[in-house]
Formats: sequence, structure tokens, C-alpha cells
Amino acid sequence: MPTYRVAIIGLGRMGSTIDDEGHSALPYSIAAATRASARMELVAGCDLDAGKRSAFTERWGIGAVYEDYRQMVAQEQPDLVAVCTRAAGTHQRQATDADYRVDVHADLTVDLANLRVPMLYVEKAIACSMRRADDVRDAVSANGTVVNTGVLRRFDKRYDVVRDAVLAGRIGEPKAVVHYAPTSLLHGHIHSIDTLSWLIGDPVITRVRGELEPRDYAVVGGHIPFDPRATYQLQFEGGISGWTIPAASWEFEVLGSEGCVRSLNNGAGADLRVAVQGSGWQQADLPTVEPVSTAVCCLEDLVAAHESGSLSRGHMGVTHHITEACLAVAESHRSGHCWVDLPGVDRDLYVFHI
Ligand SMILES: NC(=O)c1ccc[n+]([C@@H]2O[C@H](COP(=O)([O-])OP(=O)(O)OC[C@H]3O[C@@H](n4cnc5c(N)ncnc54)[C@H](O)[C@@H]3O)[C@@H](O)[C@H]2O)c1
Repeated sequence: MPTYRVAIIGLGRMGSTIDDEGHSALPYSIAAATRASARMELVAGCDLDAGKRSAFTERWGIGAVYEDYRQMVAQEQPDLVAVCTRAAGTHQRQATDADYRVDVHADLTVDLANLRVPMLYVEKAIACSMRRADDVRDAVSANGTVVNTGVLRRFDKRYDVVRDAVLAGRIGEPKAVVHYAPTSLLHGHIHSIDTLSWLIGDPVITRVRGELEPRDYAVVGGHIPFDPRATYQLQFEGGISGWTIPAASWEFEVLGSEGCVRSLNNGAGADLRVAVQGSGWQQADLPTVEPVSTAVCCLEDLVAAHESGSLSRGHMGVTHHITEACLAVAESHRSGHCWVDLPGVDRDLYVFHI
């Protein structure tokens, strides 16, 4: 079996060092995940910061480090590039002014697709506006690039168990999906909306309603200079509704006509209850799954899609759609918390995030 050459842009936490932070299910960083896979070889890294480049060389024994990613791609001819920079290209938590529209994930993804890199891992969110998300979708589609993004619950086998129960009809007809946890719009809810969608088989999201915190926050000039806390309601094709509850910690629940299934404690467990005639809902068995590296699963899914010509799990069709649903929460807030039919987001509405 061939191995594929992997290069990383952005040699910070997600690119290189996040494994030091005490997370479960390692490896987590793209460098460590690449090293753990028999299908990939780590060949190069790129960072604007010279200190990050030398730390990467020391940590991974990779001498091929670059300041300029275009030079890295030309020189190293990677099969897979991982974009692990921050989205808005700064360590600040807020845009410096109302004209700040930096969008590094989108810029790099468009350029790398046009440079004909065949596989891309892109950190979320793919863009800060739908104008740039459209550019990403168009470049990827024109070049036949295979893409997955950093919404890693989609690649987590512990969530597959929940999804399999839903899609096998064990809870009857799905009626509602719920996410629990307070979080921000583009750093957090890009994950929550993606996972809700994944758990019910990625039906089309037809409408979105939402609000940002503070509730009376006024969006000026199509520009939100920080990543706001948000709540939302989704309407999926086929009648399933989706909600986020801004309390507790990360859990997801799918409620159906004959039962419900809940992913517990940020994926650590899952609980299924099904209707038993005359006795209400009773506990039912689910397979137990040992946690494995979601980053490895995500990268190996790219390889599998590349080799088979099939869609990746987080392919651009679904990623672009989830990005639009996420930005529609801000659009809804701006238009008085009313429903936004998709696609219906102002292409120039920009939301700063990391
Ligand atoms: N999917 C996940 O579970 C997960 C976990 C952590 C972080 N993230 C995401 O990963 C991204 C990076 O976060 P981080 O915490 O690793 O950031 P970080 O600041 O630790 O690292 C980013 C690095 O990118 C470099 N960089 C920026 N622009 C560049 C460019 N044009 N060319 C080359 N290098 C460039 C910076 O110098 C920095 O070293 C963010 O979007 C974050 O949301 C995702």
C-alpha cells in the first residue's frame, strides 16, 4: 500500500503540540496522527514564526521547514496538506477594527486546491463569511480536491454508535436532535451543528433561527469583530428539528418516536432507551467502543476517499452547508431573530473567530 506525503501549515497546538495538554484518545495533533498512521509520512512543516519552525524540527526530527507554504508545496510535493493556522490569522480574541476581514483558512484552502494538492485537512471553520466559503467550495470542486475539516466528532467511533442506532431505526422515526453546552458560534457551534447533522445522517438543513449574546447586540456593517456566544434552532428536511441548550457540558441527544439515544460526557459514553409495549422507555444495549484517535481516523478517511474516488466523510458539500447553517445563526440575529431559509445568508457577513 502506498504511503502519502503530509505537510503541515501552522506548527502550533493543532499542528504539533496539543498532545501535551492531557486530552484522551491521542494522538491528537496532525503531526502525531500522521506519525501513528501506516498510510502517511510526515515530510515538512511551515510556520511564519521561526521559533515554531525550530521547535517542530526538534520535536519531530523534520528538517524541511518553511516560512512560505507555496515554496514548501513546490519543493516537497506533498499529497496531503493540513491547514492548522488560526482562521482570522491573529492571536487577538477580537478584530482590531471594522475593516478587519482576514480569512486565512479560506485563503490557504483556495490556494492549495489551485496548486493541485490532492488532499487537504482544514481546520474549522473553513471561512469567516459565506463569500469566502463559496470560493473554497468552488476551488475544491474545480480541482477535485479531497477535503476533511477539524470537526473531529464526525470521525469519532463513539459517535458512530449513536448514529448507527438512529439510522438503524432503533429509536423509531427521529423527531428532534439536541446539543448541550454553552459555546461560541464559529469556534464551538461549527462542531455542534456538524455533529447534530452527522448523527441523523446529514439531511439538508432548510431553516435556521438563532440569537447571539448579548441579545441586544447590534451587528454593524455586516461585521462581527468577535466570536459571540450563540443559541439556535434548526429545521432539517424531513421534519426533524434541532436545538442547542446553553448549559451543562458537551452532550448530544436524538429523540425519536420510539426511543432516544444520548451521547454522554463529551463522547465518553452513550445511553439508549427504547419503547417497550406497556412499560414506557427502557434501557437497551449499545456496543462499547474504545476511544481511538479521531485525527488519525480523519486523515485516513481522506486517504480512503482519495484512493477510492468516493466522498470523504466531511466532504465539501456537507461542510459548506454546515458553515452556512452556522453563519445563518448570525444572520437570524441580525434580522430580529427570525427564521432564515437556506441558502439565505448575506455573503459578506463576516464573523471573526480563531
Ligand atoms: N479540531 C480540533 O479539535 C482543534 C483543536 C485545537 C485547535 N483547533 C483549531 O486549529 C486552528 C489552530 O489553532 P492552534 O490553537 O493550533 O493555534 P496556534 O496559534 O497554536 O498555531 C497556529 C500557528 O499558525 C501559524 N500561522 C499563522 N498563519 C500562518 C501562515 N499564513 N503560514 C504559516 N503559518 C501560519 C502561527 O504562527 C502559529 O504558530 C484554529 O482554527 C483552532 O480553532 C482545532
